[in-house]
Amino acid sequence: MELDGKVAIVTGGAQGIGRAIAETLAGAGADVAVVDVEVNRAHDTVAAVIALGRRALAVKANVAEWTDVKAMADQVAMELGRVDILINNAGITRDGLLLRMKEEDWNLVLDVNLKGTFHCTKAVLPALMKQRGGAIVNIASVVGVMGNAGQANYAASKAAVIGFTKTVAREYASRGVRVNAVAPGFIDTAMTHGLAADARDALLKQIPLGRLGTPGDVAEAVRFLVSSAAAYITGHVLHVNGGMLMG
Ligand code: NAI
Repeated sequence: MELDGKVAIVTGGAQGIGRAIAETLAGAGADVAVVDVEVNRAHDTVAAVIALGRRALAVKANVAEWTDVKAMADQVAMELGRVDILINNAGITRDGLLLRMKEEDWNLVLDVNLKGTFHCTKAVLPALMKQRGGAIVNIASVVGVMGNAGQANYAASKAAVIGFTKTVAREYASRGVRVNAVAPGFIDTAMTHGLAADARDALLKQIPLGRLGTPGDVAEAVRFLVSSAAAYITGHVLHVNGGMLMG
């Protein structure tokens, strides 16, 4: 299988898109470390990966905290022996119009979505460079490109993740490390379950393919980007949005 013998770290892997990524990479042959603040639910993902015949590890870590992330990277190296793939998927929203947005909601979203991506990348990169090979995929969002009323903090964090992706891709390409982003549109997960029915209907009108995406739709794009089929792709943002944003 295409990812046989590889070890992947998936942050926010306890549910939603992260869980689908963990299962899809395991289905392609990878062993998976499932990193999440919700370690009990992370164990469910671990059970699913083990059921697919791969090794798996649940690690409790808050990606916003460097000490958690460093300990996580050390634990993965010790228990799974190596690391080849990092998926920076953990992310949160704290929505509100800008004039009502509290500084703590700004900081929290930037700390998890952006600083968390920085921490995990920094902790894992030395191992990837040493073996002169590895792939990182950062989960951005269509709203990081388009903007979205009520999500100034979230859109800023995801736009920043795209700039971060391109920069790290340039810095470590010569060491065999590829860094890409996937920008999902609106995906059917806990994050979008809070949408009111009329907001959901309005949203569907903007999606040419006429449905929300599934976590599996995103996971398949990630699987491609970490595989050798994408060996000549780095610094790219792959949009998975049903056509709601083109170009
Ligand atoms: P979700 O809320 O279902 O899952 C997020 C996971 O991240 C949860 O298991 C949560 O416990 C974990 N997490 C949250 N904060 C964490 C932290 N500080 N440290 C470690 N783990 C943490 O969300 P969903 O929808 O699966 O989103 C996954 C990623 O995809 C996020 O980065 C999100 O911004 C992005 N995304 C989601 C879209 C959607 O429509 N659902 C659209 C575009 C992007």
